[in-house]
Amino acid sequence: MTAAAPITGPELSVAQFRKIADLLYKDSGIVLSEAKRSLLVARLNKRLRTLSLPDYGAYCNRLDGPDGQEERRHLLSALTTNVTAFFRENHHFQSLLHEVLPPMIREVRQGRKLRLWSAACSSGEEPYSMAITLLDIFPDAGQHDVLILATDIDPVMVGRAQQGLYDPEALRPVNSTQRSKFFNPVSDGLTIRPEVQRLMRFAELNLHDAWPFTGKFDIIFCRNAAIYFDTPSRQRLWHRFGHALAPGGSLFMGHSERLDGPACQYFDSAGTTHYRRNSLPYPAAPV
Ligand SMILES: C[S@@+](CC[C@H](N)C(=O)[O-])C[C@H]1O[C@@H](n2cnc3c(N)ncnc32)[C@H](O)[C@@H]1O
Repeated sequence: MTAAAPITGPELSVAQFRKIADLLYKDSGIVLSEAKRSLLVARLNKRLRTLSLPDYGAYCNRLDGPDGQEERRHLLSALTTNVTAFFRENHHFQSLLHEVLPPMIREVRQGRKLRLWSAACSSGEEPYSMAITLLDIFPDAGQHDVLILATDIDPVMVGRAQQGLYDPEALRPVNSTQRSKFFNPVSDGLTIRPEVQRLMRFAELNLHDAWPFTGKFDIIFCRNAAIYFDTPSRQRLWHRFGHALAPGGSLFMGHSERLDGPACQYFDSAGTTHYRRNSLPYPAAPV
């Protein structure tokens, strides 16, 4: 095994690490332990070079200065982990296809609306996989009241998701029929087709802030984001999802995440990391 190359660049003191980690926690709920110090340095050294700042003292001054708010958005973009893929954890899309969507689609054809939410959408592969799965069995979805909301805290990722342009390599998990049905080849890759885009709404949203919608969702994907949150933030989030879901609605989470805390009473297990909202009413909206 070869030793990892040492990170060269400005030194980060314990106090500077704490300050940055505390800001990140305040803005996103993401907990950065000391074990993540070298990851932070690797990612922020690049930011220091972009800003032509000599050291972390200067960077902390920037965070405190007039451009501090804007810099905190860059900090978030630099420190969030955005790894994703089309049809990642494919068993969830199989559940959508075979169990979750068919009865919902029958009701939508009779006039009710359908709302899906990818709550940490990263660069869009997850919400587009939801859309493709839906359109495969409901090709006329666009003629009904169907919307897929895709949100993320990272504005750079929301922009990329909205653009819907992907490298052919990223489309490997998408089968060739779906590829030709739902993507157009362009000079620099493949772009999602307008009929898919029409179902989508994109927005920047911090899951720990107030949510600007009042209607209920039928399906929520929140996968591989809560893993970075501490226990109180994560449990509060599950609780809020329970309130945001219609009875019978589905919550999908990432492979290393599990439902815990007060929300458990409002859900039944429906498969691996798949929970279904039961009919127990919430006494009041969780805050
Ligand atoms: C590892 S990616 C997961 C993407 C996708 N859900 C998947 O499983 O493939 C985690 C995403 O969570 C987002 N995220 C982290 N904290 C967040 C927060 N407080 N609110 C909303 N999104 C957040 C990050 O920006 C990142 O895009």
